[in-house]
Order: sequence, then C-alpha cells, then structure tokens
Amino acid sequence: MRNSNREGGTVITGIFITFEGIDGSGKSTQLALLRQHMEELGRTVTVVREPGGTVLSEKVRTLLLDHRSMDLCERAEALLFSTARAQLVYELIIPALERGEVVLCDRYAESTIAYQGYGRELPLEEIITLQEFATSHLHPNLKVLLDLDVDVAAARLLGSFADRMESAGLAFQERVRQGYLQMSQAAPNEWLVVNGSQPKEKIAEEVRSFIEQNIFKGS
Ligand code: TMP
Repeated sequence: MRNSNREGGTVITGIFITFEGIDGSGKSTQLALLRQHMEELGRTVTVVREPGGTVLSEKVRTLLLDHRSMDLCERAEALLFSTARAQLVYELIIPALERGEVVLCDRYAESTIAYQGYGRELPLEEIITLQEFATSHLHPNLKVLLDLDVDVAAARLLGSFADRMESAGLAFQERVRQGYLQMSQAAPNEWLVVNGSQPKEKIAEEVRSFIEQNIFKGS
C-alpha cells in the first residue's frame, strides 16, 4: 500500500474539470460533448465517473446503487462515496494531472456535499471536511453546474431505471439543487452555472467558450 498524501509530492500540470447537477440534469451528455471537443483540439483527455472508475470504486458503486441489498445508513453511504473518491483521486486523477492531461469527472466532492450534506441533511461541515480528507485537498480548476428545475429533470428520467438515489423523491432533489446553488453562489469563481433546460448544443457551446476563455487562456 502506497502513501496517498499529496503534500509536497506532486506537480499538477493538467486541467481538472468536474460536472455536477441533480439526477437528469444532462451532465453526462455535456461531459461527452466536451470530451469530443477537447480531443478534436488535440488534447489528451481522461474521463472518469463517480462513483466508479477503479476496481474498488466500481465495487463501491454496485453496493451503493443497489437499494435492495441492505439498509445502508446515511453515514455509511457518505463514507462509501468518499472511499470510492479517495481511490479514484489517487489511482487515476492525480496521475493524469501529473501527465498534464485534461481530466473530466462526472461528479466529484461537491456531489457528496450536495446529496449527503444538503439532500440527506448530514452535518455539512463534517461532510466538507471528509471531502478534503478523501481528495487529499485536490480541487477542480472548474466545476460546471447544470442547473435544472427538479420537475423537468424528473420528467426526463421517467421510464428510465430509477436507482436508489433517484427514487429518493422530488423534495430530496430540490434540497440537492438548492445545495448546489448555495455552493456556487458562495464561491462564484470556482463554478460555471449553466441553465440546463436549454438545447444541448447551446449548453455545450456555452461550456466550451467559457473554458477556452477562462481555463485555457494562453495555452
Ligand atoms: P450518476 O447518476 O451521476 O451516475 O450518480 C448516481 C447517483 O449517486 C446519483 O443519484 C447521485 C448519487 N451520488 C451521491 O449521492 N453522492 C455522491 O457523492 C455521488 C458521486 C453520487
């Protein structure tokens, strides 16, 4: 087992962008479009999804999303998401950033803050501290929030497989949405908030031009 502390060890030259939003917000579609655009520009892109991306994290994902298998308590849920993230940061994200790649992540620490902190109403400061520990204080260069009305998002998901999280209900999704909005309002320099109800090509263009102007300026 290797030490996963980052202090003093690593040189990060890549760019780290995360996509956040409630279930049905369209972030996975946008991530795929941005990936395609970046690759067309000749950048090397690593894409990861949360929870998942490593052998350990995929196992944790299966555990977490299977609502039939156990009566998982909320604190255990928060810790499992954070466990999966710690391994993903250590095994994939930091090495890719050290190689100078663009890392696009479908959900990151802010998902646990939004879902387990705001949504499940676990103690917020403790959840935030847990994220600092799990990620070894690795923060994205940009967090893209696809903001969408919960009713619109739920309608999009109708007919699709409702997993453990999605079946938690509209009131829960509304708390998650408000949590994201509060985080982005508290640190506007860290976030790009996009109206997720727009056509997907329009959203993709907004994301691309923001990133070109603010993240890759000069490179
Ligand atoms: P996904 O639909 O983006 O794959 O995410 C699966 C579900 O897991 C989704 O409802 C959000 C939820 N989730 C959390 O509750 N906390 C977390 O930390 C993460 C990464 C996801």
